[in-house]
Amino acid sequence: MNHPPALLRSLAEKVGTPFWLYDARVIRQRIADIQFLTDTEGVQARFAMKACPATKVLKEMKAANIWIDAVSGNEVLRALRAGHPTGHQPPVICLTCDVFRDNALPVVLENGILPNIGSPGQIADLKKAGYSGPISVRVNPGFGHGHVNACDTGGPSSKHGIWLEDLFATKEMADKAGLEITMLHAHIGSGPQFQELHDNLTRLAAEFVTLLEKFTKVNTISLGGGIPHNYRDHGAQVPIEPLHELFASCHQRLVSKARRDLRLEIEPGRYYVAPGCTLVTRVTDVKQTRSNEKGSGATFAMVDAGFVDLVRPAMYGSYHAIDIVGKDDEDPNVPREPIVVAGPLCESGDIFTRDDRELLAPRLLPRPAAGDLLTLRDAGAYGYAMSSNYNSIGRAPQLWLEDDGSVEIISRRENIDDLLKAETSERLA
Ligand SMILES: Cc1ncc(COP(=O)(O)O)c(C=O)c1O
Repeated sequence: MNHPPALLRSLAEKVGTPFWLYDARVIRQRIADIQFLTDTEGVQARFAMKACPATKVLKEMKAANIWIDAVSGNEVLRALRAGHPTGHQPPVICLTCDVFRDNALPVVLENGILPNIGSPGQIADLKKAGYSGPISVRVNPGFGHGHVNACDTGGPSSKHGIWLEDLFATKEMADKAGLEITMLHAHIGSGPQFQELHDNLTRLAAEFVTLLEKFTKVNTISLGGGIPHNYRDHGAQVPIEPLHELFASCHQRLVSKARRDLRLEIEPGRYYVAPGCTLVTRVTDVKQTRSNEKGSGATFAMVDAGFVDLVRPAMYGSYHAIDIVGKDDEDPNVPREPIVVAGPLCESGDIFTRDDRELLAPRLLPRPAAGDLLTLRDAGAYGYAMSSNYNSIGRAPQLWLEDDGSVEIISRRENIDDLLKAETSERLA
């Protein structure tokens, strides 16, 4: 849903542009969807917090009893600071990674966090660090899907997880190290097709059913994330009823095969947050290139947000709905023309309207004018979370719109001191 132009203009007056505007109502609705999907006894949802690690969002998850899937030591610490508990019983926070970096191992040890390893060598890393608790193993089941190839998390080209045929060798290593495998996990990506997700999840659950006999200490099976969000069609709803059925029946099958209590987990990221945030930017100019022997000319709307804010279009050719605020894009009588939306960075690829072959994909929009606000919708997942300080611009502020219409600033615009605060000059050798 679009926000009222008057609201966006008044917020832009207050905090400048660009800024991120979260919508609590939309995020809560998505949380409620996942709660419905997992309301079977023995089925538990996590939030893959890398999609949007804002403390405000983490607190919403805590209030809704959604557990956490973290991918770094600092993500674990963020979840703890937001109020999620430490410990293995139950393992409310788990750390999924293929590489332990920086503080990951000490954070695991100090806080009793369940490590979900994706590479066999991590068993030796854990042992060496003095870890002696339970572990989870992430499997690459050999199949999966993604919205683009780079996001396909299962199959021979995926760096994630331990190849299924190597799982027993990994178990032997864990047995030797005295580390009990209590969870088996796989994540098969978030493709746009519901049927593909359904089929792959069914296939994955069947794989796990066959493994349970050998993994006698396993008390949890995780089917990963991967509930899709349709970025192109706003009316499209993921059919949550069949997914609810699927998770309940998978759980049932796993329990009857194992003949013991088992928890079934899922850990979506984007589904909770993707539609719950809009990146609001300002058009600074509109200019043209002309056709010549190298190609066709284009109309460029220059805006003050770039891929340092929202990198998905530049990185994967991802589609985000674009609106010129106040120029009614729902009205078929408003004339439109193909417009390329481009940002302020010193990079030719700083374009919000391009496809996954890196080609310009002009969008049919009402012609904007300098000073208009322009919004990029569905920016809540892998939006601010992936923003960077390239070109030393500083991250844009995040705002939170409450149900009652009040708006709070939850992170301010970064300034030069923020950019320089890790710089130092200490002699090392
Ligand atoms: C292990 C794991 N869990 C969860 C997710 C979240 O996926 P999504 O945000 O698409 O639901 C990912 C994404 O790559 C992942 O690798």
